[in-house]
Order: sequence, then C-alpha cells, then structure tokens
Amino acid sequence: MDNNDSKNFSNAREVLSLAARYAEEYVSDIRDRRVSPSAFDIDQMQFFNSDLARAGEPAEAVVESLHRYGSPATVASTGGRFFGLVVGGATPASMGAAVMNAVWDQVAVLEASAPSAIYLERIAANWILELLTLPMESSVGFTTGSSMANMVCLAAARNTLYQKLNIDLAKSGLAGAPPLRIVVSEQSHVTVHKALSILGFGMDQVIKAPCDEQGRVRADTFPEVDETTIICLQAGNVNSGSFDPFADIILEVKSKGAWVHVDGAFGLWAAASPAKSVLTTGVEQADSWAVDAHKWLNTPYDCGLAICRKPGAVHNVMTTQAPYLQVGSLVPPKDMVPEFSRRARGVEVWAAIQEMGPKGVAAMIDRCCIHAQHLCEGLAEMGYEILNDVVLNQVVATIGTAEDIQEIVRTIQEEGVCWFGTTTWRGKAALRISVSSWVTTDIDIALTLDAICRATEAQMSR
Ligand SMILES: Cc1ncc(COP(=O)(O)O)c(C=O)c1O
Repeated sequence: MDNNDSKNFSNAREVLSLAARYAEEYVSDIRDRRVSPSAFDIDQMQFFNSDLARAGEPAEAVVESLHRYGSPATVASTGGRFFGLVVGGATPASMGAAVMNAVWDQVAVLEASAPSAIYLERIAANWILELLTLPMESSVGFTTGSSMANMVCLAAARNTLYQKLNIDLAKSGLAGAPPLRIVVSEQSHVTVHKALSILGFGMDQVIKAPCDEQGRVRADTFPEVDETTIICLQAGNVNSGSFDPFADIILEVKSKGAWVHVDGAFGLWAAASPAKSVLTTGVEQADSWAVDAHKWLNTPYDCGLAICRKPGAVHNVMTTQAPYLQVGSLVPPKDMVPEFSRRARGVEVWAAIQEMGPKGVAAMIDRCCIHAQHLCEGLAEMGYEILNDVVLNQVVATIGTAEDIQEIVRTIQEEGVCWFGTTTWRGKAALRISVSSWVTTDIDIALTLDAICRATEAQMSR
C-alpha cells in the first residue's frame, strides 16, 4: 500500500463517519417532518444538475450535498405515515445491516466470493420458509422484488411444463413449441402480466378467472385446466388485500398436472401471524411463491424472494457454468436467480428476523392490520363508504364524486402530514391506504384521520 492508498482508506473512514452522522440526523427527525417533500425541497435538487465537466470533488463534499439537497427531497417512507403503494419502513437492525453490507461489498454469486453473506442468506432463506410455513425443501432466491420473483417462478413453471411434453426449451427455444394455457386471476397484479409477457406468453394465451366483489378468484367458475396450464393466484390483492381461496383450488388443479404460482408480495406475510394465517390456508400446496422482504418484513430496498417447491425446477432455468467458477457443494446463489453478480440482500433479511424474532414479526403484521381497522372505522364515521372487507392492511374508501376524491387526496398530499394515493375499485374512485410499516403508531393513525377529516370537510362543504 503506498501513501496514496493509505490516504484514501483514512478518507473512507472520515467519509463513513460523516455519512453515519447524516444518517443519524435523518432518522432522528423522520417522524416529525413532512411525509412528502415540499415544492421548495424538490426545487433544491437542481443543485445536483451541474455540468459533467465540473464533476470531481472530495468525497466529503459529495456526501454532504447528498444530505443537504437529497435528504429533504426524500419521501419519509420510514417515518410511519407513508401509506402509498405497499411500502414497509426499515427496521433498525436491517438499516444497520445495509450499512455493513455496503462496506462489505460482497458479490453474492458464489460462496467463494461472499462466504459470510451467503451463509447468512442461507439461514435467512430457511427462516423465511419457517415463518411463511412453506415447504422446507423449497429453493429461495433473493431478487430485487416480487416482479422479478414472479418472473423466476414462472420461468421455472414454463420450463417444467414443457419438459413434461419432452420439449427442452434450453435446446429448442420457444419457437415451434405448442402454446401453454395460462390462467390468471382477473385481479392478478400488473407485474404478473409483465413477467408472463417477458417469458413469451401473449395476452391471447391468458385466460382470466372471474373474481368476486372482494377481488378473490371464484372457485365455482374456475376455468378448465390440464397438465399444460400455469395458474397464477393472489395472496393479498393490491387494493382490497383479499386472498384467493387456495384450499378450494390448488389441490384440485394440481391433480390435473397444472403448476400453481402464488403472487404474495405482501399478503403472504399473513402466514407469519397466528391471528391472520387463516387467510393463507392451503397456500403451501402451491408450486411456487413470490414475496417481498422490502414490503412487510420492513427491510430496506430492495429484496424479493422467489420460492420454488422443487429447487431443481429453478436451477434448470438459472444455472450457468464456466471453468473459472469455483462452485461449492451447495447450489450457488447465481443458480437461483437471473443475476450473476448481485448485492447480498439476504443479509438484511437475516438482520430483520434476528431482530424481531417470529413473535415480533407476527406482532408487526397484527399491528398494521389493527391500524387499518382503526382507519376504516374513522373513515366510516366521517361518512366514507368502505369498499373492501378490511381483512388485512388495506383500506379502500370513497365519498362524493371522483373529482372530490382527487381533490381530497391532492390536499392531503400537499399538506404533508401523511401520504397515500387513489385507486378505482368496484368502479368507484377511492382513497387507497396500505399500512405496512413497523413504526406506525396509534398517534400516526390519529394524525392521519385528522388530516383526512380536514381535507374531506373542506372539499365536501364547497
Ligand atoms: C401484489 C403485488 N405483486 C407484485 C408486486 C411487485 O413487487 P415489486 O415492486 O417488489 O417488484 C407488488 C408491488 O406492490 C404487489 O403489491
């Protein structure tokens, strides 16, 4: 190491101390600040937009400007009153683990390149299967999110069904292969459709199974299936939070040779709560599952999990081989997901579960569901019509006209006390609220209801 190298390393220590100080400042006031950034804060980001030719400055200054101009323009999704999309916060241990993960900078491709990270990922994978009560022999791939987890699982489904028809896709490709039947819930998440499309399935091949008014697939009108059928079910509708009737469908369709995949991006976490696990009854009989850690396990972005009952089905599609790759006795991570080099995102999963334990995870799920119930009751008292059965963490409610809803939500977002968006459910424009953060308290719910009340009264009295 020459003088320059040692100077750079001591500089790294200073920069990390600085970053730690800013990080501490950021988390210290996250619960008291606006949830969405102000127009001024957004405007201040112009600072970053300098000429490329002028880039090149000390690392401390780089980190300082990130904090000065970047931090205020973040959405306070770790603060307890962000209810948009389905966004968890980040638990303290998982944030700390993310910092460690950054300085470790391991490439989670092989055991040889990331021994401790992959060891932790393997423990995390087993814990996930235990928490979600899924078959312990399943493979668990750490993906960017459920979009990619859906794709991994559906790729395994596709190749397995073709294999049964004696078609080796790796050799002959899709061209000339007979079409498979794809049955999705009428309410399948958009990312299921994206995954199917990437995998070469066109909309003409996709049959939509009818749903009831809560968005649950109807078992009594479920389409015909056979051994060439891939079925996609939902654990947790992205609007209503409802669950398909797994026990009424899965064993029946599997007896005909079909493959069942479940998109459980957030809903599958209900299985980790004794109070809520009844919603997932029968889900463990499926062939594959997608679920996110960055949603309801409250790990930092990004982390999804592609889980497959028969590990070989995933490995067959994802395996890469080359003489320079030193593979150990266990299946390496690169053979469970599309990525070769990737971040060891399972480290944060291990940290969150180690921190909360199974009881803590269940308590967090239950707490979010209770908060959703309180929001539902408060909204009903204000005169809102609640459009979903609040079985989980999702609330969909409407009042007045579509314009009233847009205006109410615009006012709330602008005020900055809390944040959520709109949706259309059962033909009506509605508020859509998702409670997914470990940090949300009764006070946050009270403040949110106050904000909704103010905006609603202002709009409805016009
Ligand atoms: C039900 C459902 N499936 C899939 C996804 C996609 O997950 P990700 O954004 O992690 O890729 C989401 C995201 O909100 C979701 O709610």
